[in-house]
Amino acid sequence: MESRLLQSVHLAEPLIEIDWSNYSTSVSTIHHHLKEIQDQCAGWINFPPPNYEDVLTSIQQLADEIKSNAEVLVVIGVGGSFLGAKAVQEALSPYFGVLKNGIQVVYAGQNLSGAYIQHLLNSIKDKEIYLNIISKSGTTMEPSLAFRVFRQYMEQRYGSESKERIIVTTDEKKGVLKNIAEYAGYRQFVIPYNIGGRYSVFTPVGLIPIAAAGIDIFQFIEGMKEAAVLLNEDNIELNDAYRYAVIRNELYNQGYQVELLASFEPSLAFFHEWWKQLFGESEGKNKKGIFPSAVTYSTDLHSIGQYIQEGSPILFETFLHFKEIEDDYPIPFDIRNEDQLNDLSTYSFNEINSIAKEGSILAHIEGGIPVIQLELKKLDAYHMGFLMYFFMKACVMSSFLLDVNPFDQPGVDIYKNKMNGLLKKK
Ligand code: PA5
Repeated sequence: MESRLLQSVHLAEPLIEIDWSNYSTSVSTIHHHLKEIQDQCAGWINFPPPNYEDVLTSIQQLADEIKSNAEVLVVIGVGGSFLGAKAVQEALSPYFGVLKNGIQVVYAGQNLSGAYIQHLLNSIKDKEIYLNIISKSGTTMEPSLAFRVFRQYMEQRYGSESKERIIVTTDEKKGVLKNIAEYAGYRQFVIPYNIGGRYSVFTPVGLIPIAAAGIDIFQFIEGMKEAAVLLNEDNIELNDAYRYAVIRNELYNQGYQVELLASFEPSLAFFHEWWKQLFGESEGKNKKGIFPSAVTYSTDLHSIGQYIQEGSPILFETFLHFKEIEDDYPIPFDIRNEDQLNDLSTYSFNEINSIAKEGSILAHIEGGIPVIQLELKKLDAYHMGFLMYFFMKACVMSSFLLDVNPFDQPGVDIYKNKMNGLLKKK
């Protein structure tokens, strides 16, 4: 297993033969093509733009205002308009409660459950609220309906002050939401025209909720900046995002149709959801694409671990590992030792978790599963920024290698049209 080292992410490659020279020309061509189209549809490639410090500062000021006037920020959005923010928030917040520098951030408009809306309204009735509605098109059904509910709620509760408490993140120039914001005088933040939803976590789409949750957005952007520089290489030898993309492509061509992203920290479960959308919506078209799935170990070793080890040989795994997790707990020594666990009392939980990871990798390789490993130094804002950019860059390379367009999602519109047709009939 060849091993490579970038400053912030360590990629260990699976035991498969890859003739890298077969890919060097196409990778380099796609790399340069991306640069050509970045003004049209990939504005994040050379992110951040000049003066981004000003954007970050204004977002931080807004977050400070929200934190001093509210106990809860309700974020309305679906798909790329909420997954990135929630992924970072959950990854970096305590399991129970919120960061000491942040407030509770909850999400609506990502489903059509009436019970969810009702329960959310119940849960915030005694708390001070701000609202952030996020929609690039401004017409997506789920967030639009939720915004109608919460806008009325804010108006009834805060009267004219509601105008100060509703923040709109949308397109700079067009859309229903843009018109509402203009008419009502809500504060607005812009989703750049050339950044699609699932690539928008480094824009106000992700940054406002992340900052309100108490996470350092400056460090988050620093991590992304480092990745943008290090992964701006057309040479496949030097670009680990592109190597990861090529490995995926090679495995797909060998019949491995499902990728499992595997983590050992439950707080990454929503990061998995962000990753699934990124790859699923970008690659899954024209009857092609790796199916992105994810598992949280060790929990899932006790549910679908059996299938992974011995089921149909269609899976490959990408293990995601953060070496340093801030909090840990020791295994206690017990003088009675009735459970016969004292041998383990020299370890902490995180140490055993790490060893469980190594054991799973060995077992799965033995079971014939190709294993990729991505290792990061620390679970913090900086490395999350690095990792998200890494995956975004890998995803567009991977999609173009499959000859599909990573920036559209025509299949999603089919469901919307069917639903709208049925709604009209009724
Ligand atoms: O990645 C995408 O473009 C989509 O997932 C969108 O983010 C999602 O459909 C929400 O769209 P909008 O922000 O226009 O409401």
